[in-house]
Amino acid sequence: EQAGKGEFDHFMLKEIHEQPTALTQALEGRIDPEHGRIALADFEPGTFTDIESVQLIACGTSYHAALYGSLVLNQAGVHATALLANEYSVSSPPIDDDTLVIAVTQSGETADTLNALRQANAEGATTVTVTNVVGSTAAREADEALFIRAGPEIGVAATKTFSSQAVMLTLLGQRIAADLRGEPPADLETLLAELAAMPDAIAGLLEDSDADAIADRYANSQSYFFIGRGLGFSVALEGALKFKEITYEHAEGFASGELKHGPLALVTPETPVFAVFTGEEDEKTLKNAEEAQTRGAPVIAVCPAGHRAVDVADDHLEIPEMEADLAGLLANVQLQLVSYYAAELLGRPIDKPRNLAKSVTVE
Ligand code: G6P
Repeated sequence: EQAGKGEFDHFMLKEIHEQPTALTQALEGRIDPEHGRIALADFEPGTFTDIESVQLIACGTSYHAALYGSLVLNQAGVHATALLANEYSVSSPPIDDDTLVIAVTQSGETADTLNALRQANAEGATTVTVTNVVGSTAAREADEALFIRAGPEIGVAATKTFSSQAVMLTLLGQRIAADLRGEPPADLETLLAELAAMPDAIAGLLEDSDADAIADRYANSQSYFFIGRGLGFSVALEGALKFKEITYEHAEGFASGELKHGPLALVTPETPVFAVFTGEEDEKTLKNAEEAQTRGAPVIAVCPAGHRAVDVADDHLEIPEMEADLAGLLANVQLQLVSYYAAELLGRPIDKPRNLAKSVTVE
């Protein structure tokens, strides 16, 4: 097993560091920045021309990627909703043959997600799975499969597959929007250039990250809160999930604006707040973070250098400048590292947290 980890102490840390390669593989042949186009040949031209609404179904970390994808679609003008696969049988919105259902599942074997996929198939939706595993049940049962090509992920806590799923959903979302409109998205060139720059941006971030020092400073707190807005909200949820999975400490993610509608009652000097800044109404998020800070909570801003949050926050974790669509993914890598180093300090079995399984094949 040690051989498989290479120079790293845990698979999780190795897989965090594999993200530049995973994204390069995911994007290979699928973007064409030189000619300013998405080259997603996984789907025939016009595949999505008749789609009226999109439902993304998933569980766990994949649900956070689905949430991210649903926002990318909404921002591109497509009706899209992310739904927990295990809630789908009791709460799915209406499905008809103009509905596209995207099952997001790293393993392609999660029972809850497969059940929802089967329901969507039975009700006449067009179905696509975004998965890491060729030949998985989801890949066989969905009408189409889009493979994220992240390579095997051994650590129970999903890391590189989240980034790859979110990037593939960004690409797929833009492709769907383009099929519906009959023309490419307005800011496609910037997006393609930034997608192409993502692997290097993550590699640089991994090299310079202060996440170990931040984990060291706050690892003895009572609870950990994560806030963000828009795409940053899905990152806040994922940051909290990762943290609780591997540290066994209490962590929650909130939409920044929700903090004052209840969670603020929990805030004390013992509850650090990680605030994710993705360029989506950052001023409001900063104000929400300051509300927690006034009640004594240390605020750790995850933002680019020179951002106003750096001066206000108690600490910060730096991310390279990117457009809103991708900044959240960079922030997420910093939060993965914080969780990892906090779990290491606490002596947790990082790759195999208690009570959790890599793939849950029962309902
Ligand atoms: C399990 C894992 C999670 C994962 C979820 C969904 O609960 O512990 O890390 O996010 O399943 O898995 P999937 O393979 O469908 O993405």
